[in-house]
Amino acid sequence: MIPFNKPYLSGNELEYIRKAATLGQLSGDGHFTKLSKKWLDDYYSPAKTLLTHSCTGALEIAALLLELEPGDEIILPSYTFVSSANAFVLRGATPVFVDVDPVNFCIDVHQVRKAITSKTKAILCVHYAGLSCDMTTLVNLSKEFSIPLIEDAAQAFGSTYKGRKLGTFGDLATFSFHETKNIISGEGGCLLVNNQKYYNRAEIIREKGTNRSSFFRGQTDKYTWIDLGSSFLPGELISAFLLAQLESSSQILNMRLNLWNSYYKMLQSLQEKDKIKLPFISGEISHNAHMFFVLCSNLIERQALIKYLRDQGIQAVFHYVPLHSSPAGQRFGRISGKLQNTIKASDCLLRLPLFPNLSSEQVLYICSAIESFYTCI
Ligand SMILES: Cc1ncc(COP(=O)(O)O)c(C=O)c1O
Repeated sequence: MIPFNKPYLSGNELEYIRKAATLGQLSGDGHFTKLSKKWLDDYYSPAKTLLTHSCTGALEIAALLLELEPGDEIILPSYTFVSSANAFVLRGATPVFVDVDPVNFCIDVHQVRKAITSKTKAILCVHYAGLSCDMTTLVNLSKEFSIPLIEDAAQAFGSTYKGRKLGTFGDLATFSFHETKNIISGEGGCLLVNNQKYYNRAEIIREKGTNRSSFFRGQTDKYTWIDLGSSFLPGELISAFLLAQLESSSQILNMRLNLWNSYYKMLQSLQEKDKIKLPFISGEISHNAHMFFVLCSNLIERQALIKYLRDQGIQAVFHYVPLHSSPAGQRFGRISGKLQNTIKASDCLLRLPLFPNLSSEQVLYICSAIESFYTCI
């Protein structure tokens, strides 16, 4: 079976874990967490990062930073992962689900404008498949209405919009290092703080609501509980793995991009015959080859293709069940506008295997299988 994903070790992961185990600190914010943070701080400078145990954790810190109250609203796409909404529901806020753009499956900025009310406390955009949202319009909306902008960049490490790194546009941004992402540590994530007014409090929230970080820097003489918080730190073994990945990130990106480009070239003829649609990459963005997806004509065809590929030993997978249609989404959220592009993405989008160790022969095999499916039907 060619799996959908296979975690990739770039070289130094096990050596760094061995070193972490011998250094005498396995809990968070030791040697490797500091080095990983420094790497990310340099990469995203002048923004500052805080490593977390997951992107979910980073989103929960963001939600705590906004000091939400019951009745407050967050505008976000329905076509996203549960954590994008759940983090805010945990604080009593209401997710307001809007549609995605039919071309890049990122939040539809026209729908965002229509959904803004006096209760809106944040706009959360998701860079689906590592493809950028329309950041010019989102930043302008955020400024026009004085509403914080949060980028859920779980899938977007290494992507850019108009030459600028994704994650650096919003007041806050969140990244995932889960094993299905480009840069991995099993579970893992980080919060990127662009608006510095949030940084000190984010550091406290991340450390169970205490001033432990500033205490250990010698900036305060008492270590105590001062705010709401939770335990959002990764342990040192995770950070050791992560550092090795970060140091190899350009190599990982290139490997993924080569595979992504091969898929695109080989499947182009099917797009020209109107059998499938391929991702559209506008001239304004560069992407990180996080995901290669194709769009089938309808749900029945997509399900048949999944089965056909499975019979050929290929694991291809669909993606989100729209949040507005989920039991929790219906209970906690509300819909703004029509969500037909969300439903189309949920029904028609199919993700193909993509991981650095996938061989070009395997990509050829997968593309030939897709072609033979479309000559059979
Ligand atoms: C858009 C989005 N947000 C948040 C997450 C949560 O990431 P994590 O698994 O690191 O908590 C994911 C995970 O796939 C995601 O795709």
